[in-house]
Amino acid sequence: MPGTLASNYPSWKKLQQIYDSQRNQLILKEIFAADPSRFSKFSRHFTAPIGTPAISILYDYSKNLITEPILKTLLDLVREADVPDERDRMFSGAHINTSEGRAVLHTALRNPGLKLAEEGVSEVGEVLEHMKTFANQVRSGEWKGYTGKRITAIVNIGIGGSDLGPVMVTEALKSYSQRDIACHFVSNIDGTHLAEALRVCDPETTVFIIASKTFTTQETITNATSARDWFLATAKDKAHVAKHFVALSTNTPAVTEFGISEANMFKFWDWVGGRYSLWSAIGLSIMISLGPDNFFELLAGAKAMDEHFKTAPLEENLPVLLACVGLWYNDFYGAQTNVLLPYDQYMWKFADYFQQGDMESNGKFVTKDGHRVDYQTGPIIWGTSGTNAQHSFYQLIHQGTKLIPADFLAPVESQNPIAHGKHHEILLSNFFAQPEALAFGKTEEEVRRDLGPAASTNEALVKSKVFEGNRPTNSIMFQKLTPGTLGALIAMYEHKIFTQGVVWGINSFDQMGVELGKVLAKSILAQLPDPAKVSGHDSSTTGLIHWYQKNRK
Ligand code: F6P
Repeated sequence: MPGTLASNYPSWKKLQQIYDSQRNQLILKEIFAADPSRFSKFSRHFTAPIGTPAISILYDYSKNLITEPILKTLLDLVREADVPDERDRMFSGAHINTSEGRAVLHTALRNPGLKLAEEGVSEVGEVLEHMKTFANQVRSGEWKGYTGKRITAIVNIGIGGSDLGPVMVTEALKSYSQRDIACHFVSNIDGTHLAEALRVCDPETTVFIIASKTFTTQETITNATSARDWFLATAKDKAHVAKHFVALSTNTPAVTEFGISEANMFKFWDWVGGRYSLWSAIGLSIMISLGPDNFFELLAGAKAMDEHFKTAPLEENLPVLLACVGLWYNDFYGAQTNVLLPYDQYMWKFADYFQQGDMESNGKFVTKDGHRVDYQTGPIIWGTSGTNAQHSFYQLIHQGTKLIPADFLAPVESQNPIAHGKHHEILLSNFFAQPEALAFGKTEEEVRRDLGPAASTNEALVKSKVFEGNRPTNSIMFQKLTPGTLGALIAMYEHKIFTQGVVWGINSFDQMGVELGKVLAKSILAQLPDPAKVSGHDSSTTGLIHWYQKNRK
């Protein structure tokens, strides 16, 4: 039941017993040696149905510290937590975001034409058409700036979910982009972010996309106001704003008050969570960069994964399996993090994106019905692209003292097969090698054999070269990073997050934890001009503010 403490489920207790009694026997080297068919037993292949974009995703979870009974018990947990029911409630528009009394319907954004009672669902197709018209006009040069020149740059001003999705997807699908339109993303309130983007923009040929669900976010409104001032310093006449500023929001009054007409507003609805919004009007920069057809393919790929999540048996269900594997380490092994390692340079922002997607969704200590959990909830998500990551932090994953479950992702085909595919083969050899090294390691005996006579004179060297192994990984191979495939991969992780959130009994769709800091910053901002006004803080905060006030120029 959503809201129930997960530790009360019989399967949770059983998993704890299994962990306590079997963890020392869960040795990947032995498990693999005992079962030659382990790969086929513990891997699943997803393909999109005929009539949708070609998508092929292989999920190999065999290099995990699980056995068939463990996986079965994890799936029992998913059932006991009523994940299938809650999933169906989400898709049907039930208000599962209980603290905010809202539906959670990002899946409806990738299913235009869907009939649901929830207000706005019937308008999804209309907004997509509006986006398509505008995107085509900008891409073709039909949309002109105030001096009649074509648009050569777009600047998306937004933060969090109104930034990270567009950034990640435009990077991931850069090979599909229209290269004569530069895409800039400004999120940080630090003036440096906007200033650096504006340095390379021309007011006559730039369109600003103000992306904010609420249209009240301090960073976005401040950046948007400064961008408008910058624009008007050259354009002079406020009437020209209409050619250069559009808004993506749920808040029509705030958009019009800012000076953007409703005709230049692309709307979405409160049932679209910020970190699930790239599929909505928030994806306008994606659509301009990649073109409407590629954006629609992205949606179709996600929809194919939605259908799989809804209909595949739990044992075959990629998001559910991914969630189960993650739960096992997070809640029984005490792993604190989950590293995402795409071996595709285009996906270098994938982990950044899911830092918000996962951590803002599942970083919660209270269940839906208000109980303090007595187990771990959402993991810390981190990572970057391989092979860069190998030369940065892999040392700790291989030989550190922490257990770091890792997801390796890679395409069979490269978008840029230079040197007759040699780069890609080298890349993939690393993608295959790292999970193998993590799982099977290198024994002291093997080290001694490799070192030869040197081993007998340097014991410390021998010890430092041992890889204990038994470090778990998922390997996810997809055919090629097409828009459809990326859509499916994002949806797969979204539904993993959902599944884990339901098991933990938390509300994955609010973000109360971001509020307190915002409120305090507001009151501090009012105190910054005058040292005499600084009050109500601890001595550290007061000291820091006074230091700033004394030293500012
Ligand atoms: O600070 C958290 C947050 O509310 C995110 O959930 C959201 O994606 C981001 O701020 C931006 O919000 P908005 O789109 O309303 O500007």
